[in-house]
Order: sequence, then structure tokens, then C-alpha cells
Amino acid sequence: MEIVEIRLFMQHMEWSQKFSVGIKEFDDQHKHLIAMINKFHDAFREHRALDMQKYILKEIVNYVKTHFETEEKYMRMFSFPGYDDHHDEHEKFIQKAVGLQMNSVAFGFVPTLEIVKLLMQLLEDHLLTVDMNYVDFFHEKGMK
Ligand SMILES: [Fe+2]
Ligand SMILES: [Fe+2]
Repeated sequence: MEIVEIRLFMQHMEWSQKFSVGIKEFDDQHKHLIAMINKFHDAFREHRALDMQKYILKEIVNYVKTHFETEEKYMRMFSFPGYDDHHDEHEKFIQKAVGLQMNSVAFGFVPTLEIVKLLMQLLEDHLLTVDMNYVDFFHEKGMK
């Protein structure tokens, strides 16, 4: 666990322009993901994180799959050149999330910080980094 990740998690995430990819359907889904992260964040601060683990992991796995499918559908529709790499990133994230979910079922719990780390990866490494790579491309295709 990196200190910076704990610090990031100590603050509630407020939606701001820096999260926006400028495409309404994707932004709405990203807002939903951030709301889910905040829900876990609240549980974490109120020492309810352990009770909420299975629920949040299930929610994240389900919603992330829906969201990734939406992005990939448009990528295929417009033949996005970065499709393979982006798809790989989606798969890697799903595998990690499903792995934690399986462990939480098998062992009854997983270390809460592993979930925090997963959520921060989704936010920092995916939404704010990998997703930004498609912004110009989709805008050129007229999406908004
Ligand atoms: Fe995304
Ligand atoms: Fe993505």
C-alpha cells in the first residue's frame, strides 16, 4: 500500500472537470463508479468496511463490466486504433477485481487495503490515465 493511495482515499472524491472525458454516456458511468468508491470510502471511515466488502466487490465487478463493454462497443464501432491495449487494461482490472471477490468469498474477507488499492487503481490508472487516451479520437468522430 502506497502512502499516496491512503492519502487519496482519505478524501471524498468530488466529480470535477479533471475526470471528464467530454462524452456524456462515459462521464455518467464514471460518475457512478466514483459514487461507488465514495460509498466504500464512507464505510471505511465509519469502520464498516469489513461488512461492506462483499457488497462493494460485487457492485464493482458488475458495474465495471457494463462500463468497459460500453467503451469497447464504441471503440469497435469506430475502429479505435488503441483498442487491443485498452481492452487488455480492462481485462487485467476485471481479473484483479474478480480475484479479490473470489478470495473474499473463500476466506470470508480480504484485507480492506487491497480493496482501497483496487479502487484507487481504477481511478488513477484507468479513468484518469488510460481512458484519457481515447478522448481526442472520439471527439474527432463527433461523440460528445
Ligand atoms: Fe472508463
Ligand atoms: Fe476504459
